[in-house]
Amino acid sequence: MARTADDSWDIATSVGATAVMVALARAAETASDDPLIRDEFAEPLVSTPELAKVRDQVAAWWAPEPDDGSAGTPDSEDSEDDFSVDAQQMIDYQAVRTHFFDAYFAGAVAAGIRQVVLLAAGLDSRAYRLAWPAGTTVYEIDLPKVLEYKEQTLAGHNATPVADRRPVPVDLRHDWPKALRDKGFDATQPTAWLAEGLLPFLPAAAQEAMFAAIDSLSGPGSRVAVEMFGVDEDKRQEAEEKWARLRERRAARGEDTSFNPFELWFDDEGRPEPADWFTARGWSAQTVSSHDEAARLGRPPQSTERPFANRFVTATKG
Ligand SMILES: C[S@@+](CC[C@H](N)C(=O)[O-])C[C@H]1O[C@@H](n2cnc3c(N)ncnc32)[C@H](O)[C@@H]1O
Repeated sequence: MARTADDSWDIATSVGATAVMVALARAAETASDDPLIRDEFAEPLVSTPELAKVRDQVAAWWAPEPDDGSAGTPDSEDSEDDFSVDAQQMIDYQAVRTHFFDAYFAGAVAAGIRQVVLLAAGLDSRAYRLAWPAGTTVYEIDLPKVLEYKEQTLAGHNATPVADRRPVPVDLRHDWPKALRDKGFDATQPTAWLAEGLLPFLPAAAQEAMFAAIDSLSGPGSRVAVEMFGVDEDKRQEAEEKWARLRERRAARGEDTSFNPFELWFDDEGRPEPADWFTARGWSAQTVSSHDEAARLGRPPQSTERPFANRFVTATKG
């Protein structure tokens, strides 16, 4: 699972499988009694036979530890080791983040923006499900096989995009601005950009190059939205130790421990805070903590026991 500088994947492997994981969460939220968001394309996208193994891997990653009676007892070391990912927390978080960025796009089109770029689109179905005004173009950047899978699967369900959807199959570590322009992107027009579920999967240098490209390709009035993964390094260290112990236990029980999105993150240093980066280049930025947003929407926030405190950053070019 370890990353290399020029690795590649399809929808069922490596970083591709993380797109399946978040779409599984959107499908579960959509099917729930009182959903915050409705993504009716998520379920067909995650239900194909070729994703059977990924579904099992994600289910194993999300599975609670069996209650053997020892967990939670005061002297039990096991209680310390219970670091299974809580599926409902994951679903709640994905619902909150999808809701936030859906609203971001509603604001962008209300302001007259008709050019949209989904950076690392994965199984994002916004081109098919949001109420885009006539004349809106949605560019979707991701690796070729990921985009092909989405397009073919949705075509098999007779789904048609609401906007003029233009896939841009390219690696964001390569010359993606050229690939985007080749598909008709117009840098003189205002654009709404989104980097959702992406930053830790890019090396720091590629993240900075991506921010610089967004800035230079953005006409006045452009907007950008970024999901920032705030990590408390002390808590992360502790979490990784707990996860390693849990993984040993699961492997000993013969369970599948092959899926772990955090192992796919680039941990290199030198990542600027997106709000500061864009502000320094004349954009006006706002940051919303995902905890506050969850509270506003009546959803439980990410647990403070976990090492993450994600933020949603939006900025407008002056
Ligand atoms: C967690 S998924 C998020 C997908 C989508 N944004 C969403 O929220 O549903 C991560 C996505 O990033 C894409 N990705 C990661 N690194 C990439 C790169 N270097 N170039 C293009 N796509 C990349 C993966 O293929 C995958 O679809």
